[in-house]
Amino acid sequence: MPATCVVGLQWGDEAKGKIVDLLADHHDYVVRYNGGANAGHTIVWGDRTFKLSLLPSGILKPRVRSVIGNGLVVYPPRFLEEIEQLQHAGIKVGDNLLLSEHAHLIFPYHIEEERLAETAIEGSIGTTGRGIGPCYQDKIGRRFGIRVGDLLTPSYLRERLRTIVPIKNRLLSAYANLPDANPPQFDPDQLTEEYLGYAERMRPFIGNATRVLHEGLNAGRSILFEAAQGSLLDVDHGTYPYVTSSSSLPGGIWPGTGIPTRSLTRIIGVVKAYTTRVGRGPFPTELRDATAERIRTIGREYGTVTGRPRRVGWFDAVAVRYTARLAAADEITIMLLDVLSGLPELKIATAYQHPEGSRSFEDFPSDAQRLEECQAIYETLPGWSEDLTRCRSWNNLPRAAQRYVERIRDLVGLPVTLISVGPDREQIIRLT
Ligand code: GDP
Ligand code: IMO
Ligand code: MG
Repeated sequence: MPATCVVGLQWGDEAKGKIVDLLADHHDYVVRYNGGANAGHTIVWGDRTFKLSLLPSGILKPRVRSVIGNGLVVYPPRFLEEIEQLQHAGIKVGDNLLLSEHAHLIFPYHIEEERLAETAIEGSIGTTGRGIGPCYQDKIGRRFGIRVGDLLTPSYLRERLRTIVPIKNRLLSAYANLPDANPPQFDPDQLTEEYLGYAERMRPFIGNATRVLHEGLNAGRSILFEAAQGSLLDVDHGTYPYVTSSSSLPGGIWPGTGIPTRSLTRIIGVVKAYTTRVGRGPFPTELRDATAERIRTIGREYGTVTGRPRRVGWFDAVAVRYTARLAAADEITIMLLDVLSGLPELKIATAYQHPEGSRSFEDFPSDAQRLEECQAIYETLPGWSEDLTRCRSWNNLPRAAQRYVERIRDLVGLPVTLISVGPDREQIIRLT
């Protein structure tokens, strides 16, 4: 039965949440497979705006089962807070939410470890500060990882924390001589009590997500996988080390949920009509001028999670061709096209040039040092002045906007199935 994946093909914030919301009605499950509360997915229904970090974007639909897969890292207070916020907004959260017992738990020492490492080590990554990296480190390292299901066995949780916390305390104290470091020390028994308190409230949501999804597939139900982050932040194929610590490409679905990726029948690559990036790392098409300021203001390009201004640049067809191939995308959706109205001309990067080479090339070098040295080679297209936010069909779009979309389609080599012209779920142009 159909399984679809919605995946970002840039550095995140491509408006995946909006696409997931549009498709959720046609699916039985909406499933997150990677990351954690470093994600910020926005859904706009008229005058109501929802921002989801850890919960799948299907959670607004009570008929849909929203699943947090084993591939995620979960900070319990954040999980409970997000549920409460939704309940205050009148959204029902109950047996429509399932949290995998095998997802890993973020503890306050992870968040402190990240804070200290980001300030101490030359060349910070510019993370969201949510403890994501240190938690994944402990998962892969195996000695310190604690999973959601462990919350339900108090004696085991206590024993694990009594072993782990003294070592974490020593690790944190190693940063003590840094200015303003003030590394805190944690008490294992206090942490156990705190987490057992969360456990009682989380218990109704915890279960065997892999089994539920397999049973669903066998019963002919359909699954929508919602990637967090963007493919250029994928830990293996992104611009390492300026990436996140999980596999955001659809390949992450298999380890992150237990559902084989060959179940996927549709992979939708989501792109902005330009490019943004939050945090540090190479960005060949970055703009630092008035155009960047204009796009940032009109596109409201400030991080959903941290409020940081997003870095802004032209559409990079070299990068998106690279990620579209890695993601095995069948189609792309072009988001925030309305933001580009009023610019006299638009640029698209079609190739790169490296100072050491004589010729330009079209292969994306994901290695951060090499990419940093590359210069983008642009093609220039005419802009348009018309407001697009009321356009609802291809024929409503100005000719220059149509040509811009067609050029992206041709350069990426994939059909464009949706164009988004505003944050609201109604502000969409369907091309199929
Ligand atoms: P995600 O992380 O990929 O889900 O994306 P974010 O929610 O972090 O960022 C996308 C932002 O763009 C959100 O503020 C959306 O409300 C907004 N948005 C989505 N589609 C459009 C669009 O077509 N035009 C405009 N102007 N804003 C949009
Ligand atoms: P959504 O799902 C944009 C970036 C951070 C930082 C790097 C590592 O909303 O698209 P981390 O906290 O994950 O260790 O930070 O990744 N980053 C995102 N950028 N959108 C996201 O999620 C992101 N999640 C992480 O800014 O550069
Ligand atoms: Mg986001």
